[in-house]
Amino acid sequence: MDKAEDFDAEIFRSMEFISNPYPIYRELRNINPLIYLRNERYYWILSYKDCSSVLSDLDYGKKFKRTYEEMTNSNVDDLQHYDPRNPRRNMLFLDPPDHTRLRNLVAKAFVPKNIEKMRPFIRSLAEDLIKRVREGRDFDIMSGFAGPIPAYTIAKILGVPNRDMEKFKKWSDSAALSLDSTRTREEYEEARVADENLSLYISSLIDEKKKSHEDDLLSDLIAAEDSGEKLTHRELIATSTLLLVAGHETTTNLIGNGFLALLRNRDQMDMLREDRSLLKNAVEEFLRYDPPVQQTARAVYKATVISGMEIKEGTRISAVIGSANRDPEAFENPDTLDITRKDNKHLSFSKGIHFCIGSQLARLEAEVAFDILMDNLSDARLSAEPEWRNNANMHGMKTFLVKKN
Ligand code: HEM
Repeated sequence: MDKAEDFDAEIFRSMEFISNPYPIYRELRNINPLIYLRNERYYWILSYKDCSSVLSDLDYGKKFKRTYEEMTNSNVDDLQHYDPRNPRRNMLFLDPPDHTRLRNLVAKAFVPKNIEKMRPFIRSLAEDLIKRVREGRDFDIMSGFAGPIPAYTIAKILGVPNRDMEKFKKWSDSAALSLDSTRTREEYEEARVADENLSLYISSLIDEKKKSHEDDLLSDLIAAEDSGEKLTHRELIATSTLLLVAGHETTTNLIGNGFLALLRNRDQMDMLREDRSLLKNAVEEFLRYDPPVQQTARAVYKATVISGMEIKEGTRISAVIGSANRDPEAFENPDTLDITRKDNKHLSFSKGIHFCIGSQLARLEAEVAFDILMDNLSDARLSAEPEWRNNANMHGMKTFLVKKN
């Protein structure tokens, strides 16, 4: 191959693509596993093999040459562009050695035993939420169930006191608006104010926790030390905000997208309702089948060849996880939802040094959420076509109305 197919990025902004990008990824992969987005000036990598090697290789990183102004004209991968002008440093936007230092410190506090002890909290939260379902009445899975679970869970893990939970949840909902590519000026302003309020609030919470170490993640982050290094006050704020933003909408969409997949594949719903030992495996398949993060971008640090095509140093590329997860070279019957699938090496949590640090928490939340959904809503049906968020990267629904029979 001597040329990548060249596309106008506009075609990927249609709601038809955003709500169900997979048939288009398949068509594109069949034409060429590397495509060039003319007006965005970057490449999409569509095959599993190439996405996997780009994500694992340090010759690709996070320092982009394009300016902020150019990037804000793009609405493709907002997770990376969350707020690049912000002087706060967080690991998602950094390369080693800064990334390594921050990640090692956070990894000290974010350990599996601290995650697993959240199980009873998540279960009782999910049980309370599902009690609001009324027979014969519409219930919005997104605002009534999938949204609150991650928001309250991360607040609890960080150590937000119960008295502040409601305002914390409101700010984190508003801050998540900044991930939406079609936000209005008012919504952008709402997100900015919420982000500021969140930072101020977290800053004062850090001061409180510094005085009395408690049994929570923020206290552990304050205490975390690696080779004599500690997180600065600013890094503590940046890290807490990152955990909140990166873990909220994504996990919400895992629950939403997974439940929609079950409603559309009743045999799989019945199987899961009858055999809960499949829960863990089912969550992996929901992640593969309809991933909450569709792509993640990298800058090319060393001229290279991808899919037979020479790519210059400094070029921007994007590993399209949503396409890699449906690549028939990597998965048998990739377009079939199969909750018993074995050896499911999806890329939904990425790969390499930026592999999602919250993956165990997301898995736990989803496992509990689907257990409760199977107990209560396995006979539900869609009341209306779901409404998708207008965002080609953070893939999820705005509203998802179901009715219990
Ligand atoms: C289903 C839910 C989730 C999905 C699909 C997801 C996906 C991802 C992906 C794809 C990346 C890597 C991006 C890249 O390679 O550039 C990532 C990184 C990250 N995620 Fe998640 N995530 C989820 C839940 C969470 C949760 C619950 C948390 C924490 C509370 C979290 C915290 C992070 C952090 C801190 C990073 C940055 C890691 C680094 O740069 O080293 N995520 N996530």
